[in-house]
Amino acid sequence: MQVVKTGLRNLRRALRWPLVATLGLLCGAWLQATHGEAIIGDPVQGANDPILGSKHDFSGLNRRAGVVAMPTVAFSDYGNPCVYCHIPPEQADVDASALGAIDGWNRYQPATNEFQLYNSTYLDSKTRTPSPISLLCLSCHDGTMAVDMVVFKPGNFDNAADTAMHMRINGADNTISCGKCHNGRVAHDISIKHIGQDLRNDHPISMRYAGLPPHYAGFPDAPKGFVSDPDFRLPHSEKGFSNGVRLYEGRVECASCHNVHNPEKDLFLRVNSDLLCQTCHTK
Ligand code: HEC
Ligand code: HEC
Ligand code: HEC
Ligand code: HEC
Ligand code: HEC
Repeated sequence: MQVVKTGLRNLRRALRWPLVATLGLLCGAWLQATHGEAIIGDPVQGANDPILGSKHDFSGLNRRAGVVAMPTVAFSDYGNPCVYCHIPPEQADVDASALGAIDGWNRYQPATNEFQLYNSTYLDSKTRTPSPISLLCLSCHDGTMAVDMVVFKPGNFDNAADTAMHMRINGADNTISCGKCHNGRVAHDISIKHIGQDLRNDHPISMRYAGLPPHYAGFPDAPKGFVSDPDFRLPHSEKGFSNGVRLYEGRVECASCHNVHNPEKDLFLRVNSDLLCQTCHTK
């Protein structure tokens, strides 16, 4: 069993390596790849992915929670755990953004004009719209769209047999919200996972990392007038910090602090919360 598992892991690594190597040669190419190009969630290659069995594994949530009624009632079980976020391999060549998809992901654009981003007169750079990789998270966590609202369902999924209620991450007591059960009595309270559309109380996202000089190897140049802030540390590479905290094209995103592919740490944090803040902030 262990041999099979290791085998799969090595296979996955081997399959990915040429891509990583090619992209790694040119930082510019790497940066382009994170923007616009879909990452394909192939369940065959991902057969050993740590996301399986985690709270983001919608195909396995009945096993996790022991609640058979949840998949196929609260949300559709597409039988492929990757498609809730990633474009399925058979749709790799379709222009998903023409269908309203978030650039590079298998989910629809949330109503971006609705987001209230964190703002303060002290911020070094301001942003109006979250970047695609953060919109991915918000497409579930803002509570406006069903968790199974994907752009492409797997080809073998039978729409006609779909009886799910397509519920949203929302604490409201109605039949389109997981809060119907997840109210702290029937099941754990889901309202804390509901980030909502007002992000002014949350950590700022999608702004250029304040610690980057205007021109810095591996990162796109800053817009005119950007001044770097001495209260922030320099990143170690174009991926971000050596402890795993990431920057995306020089920006801070939800995935800078969280890695949904690593359920080992609490709340999928990239670094334990006592060390997380000082990775970037010097004070
Ligand atoms: C809840 C959303 C979500 C689900 C479900 C999901 N992923 Fe991902 N995946 C992401 C995000 C976000 C990233 C980007 C991480 C980054 O760039 O740091 C990613 C990155 C990847 C990558 C490229 C990065 C790497 O680790 O090399 C691969 C390959 C991948 N996912 C495969 C899969 C497979 C296979 C599945 C199903 C078993 C899956 N994903 C399920 C969100 C998801
Ligand atoms: C397809 C829908 C979906 C997407 C997309 C999604 N999530 Fe989630 N997320 C969930 C669900 C469902 C839960 C579990 C809620 C619960 O336990 O009440 C969850 C839980 C979490 C938690 C709490 C984990 C815990 O242990 O309680 C964090 C943190 C989180 N998600 C971050 C992210 C980030 C960051 C992204 C984007 C990279 C993301 N999620 C994308 C559906 C999603
Ligand atoms: C019919 C009632 C019901 C509905 C509707 C429902 N759930 Fe659940 N869910 C439960 C019960 C009961 C549990 C197990 C007890 C618990 O985790 O509190 C559970 C567990 C979970 C877990 C696993 C938690 C863990 O730590 O393992 C997740 C994640 C989850 N539900 C997400 C959702 C999401 C997302 C929705 C809406 C799309 C939803 N549920 C709708 C009843 C429900
Ligand atoms: C600067 C780092 C950072 C960024 C950026 C960030 N988070 Fe978090 N997130 C945290 C930390 C730390 C916690 C746990 C402590 C807390 O409750 O605030 C957390 C908690 C959460 C939780 C779980 C709430 C709970 O207490 O169960 C969810 C869901 C979540 N984040 C999603 C997101 C989403 C979606 C984004 C982007 C819109 C995001 N995070 C951006 C650091 C971050
Ligand atoms: C990935 C790097 C990064 C991490 C990790 C991080 N921050 Fe930040 N934080 C920033 C950036 C960049 C800003 C915006 C600074 C600016 O543009 O002036 C910011 C802004 C803030 C602000 C708003 C300050 C203001 O000027 O209004 C607070 C508060 C904050 N962070 C707290 C935290 C806490 C608490 C943690 C740990 C849970 C944390 N940060 C982790 C990069 C980070």
